[in-house]
Amino acid sequence: MIRTPRLSLRSWRDDDRDPFAVINADPEVAYWLGGALSPERSSASINRYMTCIERMGFGRWALERRDDYTLIGAVGIMPVLGDLPLDGFELGWRLSRQSWGQGYAREAAAAALQYGLKKAKLKEVLAFTSEKNVRSIRVMEAIGMARDPARDFDHPSLEPDHPLRRHVVYVAAN
Ligand SMILES: CC(C)(COP(=O)(O)OP(=O)(O)OC[C@H]1O[C@@H](n2cnc3c(N)ncnc32)[C@H](O)[C@@H]1OP(=O)(O)O)[C@@H](O)C(=O)NCCC(=O)NCCS
Repeated sequence: MIRTPRLSLRSWRDDDRDPFAVINADPEVAYWLGGALSPERSSASINRYMTCIERMGFGRWALERRDDYTLIGAVGIMPVLGDLPLDGFELGWRLSRQSWGQGYAREAAAAALQYGLKKAKLKEVLAFTSEKNVRSIRVMEAIGMARDPARDFDHPSLEPDHPLRRHVVYVAAN
């Protein structure tokens, strides 16, 4: 568990499944993440996050507001998955639409990055998103990650003419 002034990054519980499914079904959130997830796929994501946290001590944590215990999203570091042309560990985030614009993503992402570099002692942590995802890129820059254009890539699961296909890569290293 990591605590920041306003947030807890904690392990997942069964009662997170419904509110996380609502976040993952929201078209405004899902637009940036390859489309809306069914409740089953959202729940499967939680299972993957939990397995990672159990095995490695870190992963995508549940993000909870400390003042009212509301689940507002997921933030944390996971091994890069799938057939992406990148290797290593990725810091990622997704927050409920209602909680955007309040600095929660920055606050949580900064704490997760510190954990990855200082506690887990990872050599480097990557973050990537579509070059169009300005909000997410602002978070990367705000927490001190540096752009590495040499590693930019076209997302292999998006069609060649998909507007979000080109991805930019940011890095923080020890
Ligand atoms: C990416 C995402 C997490 C960013 O959320 P966000 O609310 O815009 O980001 P933050 O919480 O850091 O908020 C930052 C903004 O809130 C403002 N803000 C308001 N109160 C604040 C506070 N107390 N502290 C800091 N910033 C505050 C800041 O001015 C900042 O705006 P700026 O970047 O224009 O300066 C969110 O848009 C999201 O979940 N998107 C969909 C999923 C996604 O794209 N994930 C990433 C895919 S790789």
